[in-house]
Amino acid sequence: MSKQLDNQEQITQWFNNTYTKRGFWYLRPIKAYYIYLELLEAKADQKLLDIACGLGRLLEASQDYKVEPYGIDISDVAISKAKERFPDFNLQVANAERLPFDDNTFDLITCIGSLERMVNTDDALKEMYRVGNKQSKYCFLVRNSETTSWQFFKTFLGMKNEKGHQDAKNLKEWTSIFKTAGFDVIDVYPDQYPLMKKARRKYLWLKKVNYKEVIKSHEPIEKANEFLFILKKHD
Ligand SMILES: C[S@@+](CC[C@H](N)C(=O)[O-])C[C@H]1O[C@@H](n2cnc3c(N)ncnc32)[C@H](O)[C@@H]1O
Repeated sequence: MSKQLDNQEQITQWFNNTYTKRGFWYLRPIKAYYIYLELLEAKADQKLLDIACGLGRLLEASQDYKVEPYGIDISDVAISKAKERFPDFNLQVANAERLPFDDNTFDLITCIGSLERMVNTDDALKEMYRVGNKQSKYCFLVRNSETTSWQFFKTFLGMKNEKGHQDAKNLKEWTSIFKTAGFDVIDVYPDQYPLMKKARRKYLWLKKVNYKEVIKSHEPIEKANEFLFILKKHD
């Protein structure tokens, strides 16, 4: 997203255009999605809801774990493309801020690279909390506003916090948002996939679920490319 889009219609339109023009090229390859399922310790017969599921990549990977796949997305283009490929998955066009599911329905809830695109994050988190059951585990991939590269642009070039960084937050801010929404943070990992060199990505492909490669970083967690939060409902 290259400019600030703060109205739901514009955001939906932007994603519809992106999926029409770029399709899967817009997203990470499927091998990058196994990490979320590994960290959640996904098991057979669990009900998994992927919020803002896009073209269904995570749900496709989830089939190796034999979970029951559900997905919603605001983009009707994304959902219709996903339905063509996965007619047996439970896929719907819906806004994360008003989920079309009963309370306490899901065992696993994921929201990958999408929370910061929502108009009202608090409402979306309330809904995610509501549809998770008591033991539910959550995995959120969210953008960091304090990556080393961004700090460089900010400090040395005096750039403003916009153009893709407008929705990012730092580790403390995300932690506080999740706690306020009623979650406990089980773990936070640095998500380094976009920074991995081609050779290391190929290696990942061979091993398929070598998820530790994706979260390996020599930098402090505060500087991570993105944050991968594993959460549960506060008791
Ligand atoms: C960067 S894409 C990530 C897609 C998918 N999670 C993945 O990783 O393959 C962000 C997604 O968020 C969806 N989205 C944005 N706002 C939404 C909302 N309020 N409710 C549901 N989906 C939303 C977009 O349509 C888009 O598919």
